[in-house]
Amino acid sequence: MAMKVTVIGLGYLGATHAVAMAELGHQVIGIEADPQKLAALQAGKLPFYEPGLDEALTRVIETGRITFQPDHNESSRTADAHFLCVGTPQVSGSYAADTSYLFSAVDALAPYLSETAVVAGKSTVPVGTAKELINRLSAAAGFSAHLVWNPEFLREGTALEDSLRPDRIVVGVPAGDAHSERVMREIYEPILNGDTGSAAGQTPFLVMDVATSELVKVAANSFLATKISFINAMAEISEAAGADAVALAEAIGMDARIGSQFLRNGIGFGGGCLPKDIRAFMARADELGVGSAVDFLADVDAVNLRRRQRVLDLANQELGDIAGKKILMLGAAFKPDSDDIRDSPALDIAVQLAKAGAKVVIHDPMSLAGVMAKHPELDSVQDLTSAAQDAELVVLGTEWKLYRELDANSFGELVANKTVIDGRNALPYHAWQDAGWKVIALGRNLENA
Ligand code: UDX
Repeated sequence: MAMKVTVIGLGYLGATHAVAMAELGHQVIGIEADPQKLAALQAGKLPFYEPGLDEALTRVIETGRITFQPDHNESSRTADAHFLCVGTPQVSGSYAADTSYLFSAVDALAPYLSETAVVAGKSTVPVGTAKELINRLSAAAGFSAHLVWNPEFLREGTALEDSLRPDRIVVGVPAGDAHSERVMREIYEPILNGDTGSAAGQTPFLVMDVATSELVKVAANSFLATKISFINAMAEISEAAGADAVALAEAIGMDARIGSQFLRNGIGFGGGCLPKDIRAFMARADELGVGSAVDFLADVDAVNLRRRQRVLDLANQELGDIAGKKILMLGAAFKPDSDDIRDSPALDIAVQLAKAGAKVVIHDPMSLAGVMAKHPELDSVQDLTSAAQDAELVVLGTEWKLYRELDANSFGELVANKTVIDGRNALPYHAWQDAGWKVIALGRNLENA
């Protein structure tokens, strides 16, 4: 049955969730306080790049099932559910997550909350946050509010697909709140029934206590980060021992208990989630007096950051002194098919190279506007051919298809020196070597390959 929902906070998570809710047939009110983001969405445009989502946005706007506004009004009073999707960024100068946007969101919602409406938190939060939110909301509303936690596992680049055909739906429900569980099941019914393409009855709907549901998200992201840092640690060993971390990953990944995903070594993880989530997890575990349980995450973070330094060291090694040398960074986004530059390893390396005196030219098919605004010290060049002109070193930082499919021969004619550091192990190195390139790939020794 179609329901009426509000989605509060329309960043990557909220905008995708709002569109997904409308795709499921629900009536959606999207609420976004930032005037620029709001204006874009009202005009049918996404304020960020996400493949397929803009078409879906256009489609649901045409159905009339989605509207956007800056804050709640009387129409919020008749909503069946309110999804909290505001950001929980890292507090500056600390590892902790800033949950203040969530508290402001429930304060703003309280006057418009009906006694039957269910508030569903989707933001990634330190365990224990939902309990505080329930208390705050109930006190402000003057009745015992319904609040559940419903973490979101979408990845940028496949956000809509992940929302409409998720591996599982997790809902943390306070003991005895059968009403909230019923409403959440109804909202996700089209997915559970198979209407969105998943096999009917095959999407697990996991109901658990609230604290566990908050932990599921941070635990999942911590595990993924650990997996990446594990293979990057193996890359460090491989570099020292003359072994090949890519072959190693392939071999261990064939053990179904290990699995081959998230075993790609390179310059490591970035983005708005993994780095911030492992740090917030360490901070929260400390507050709970069990910091040592996740001490290993400090190493996960350290391995990840060391891989960026490795590229700086390799650049120095190749160029002698990098001061004044022209280095082309291919990619600025934290991963392909995204224009997100938050905590991007590629961008961080470019900035460090520039700090060390290199003339860094940076190219990216989607994120250069953001780079130009934040890093005027980098030479952001839209046209790849001009960007490559006379480069003395090329670094692959983001494995966009465009770069993976470059013609190594003609590309080689543009640069001054045919040396490439493949920070993502993504280039077909035989073809590049055949075209006369020296290919340096992290975690492997291609001279011996
Ligand atoms: C992540 C989680 O995957 C998702 O479930 C959660 O909801 C949000 O955080 P996302 O940040 O979009 O999603 O990116 P993800 O695909 O997980 O990649 C994170 C980073 O790890 C990227 O910088 C990527 O380049 C890097 N990565 C990924 C590796 O270095 N090696 C790998 O094998 C996989």
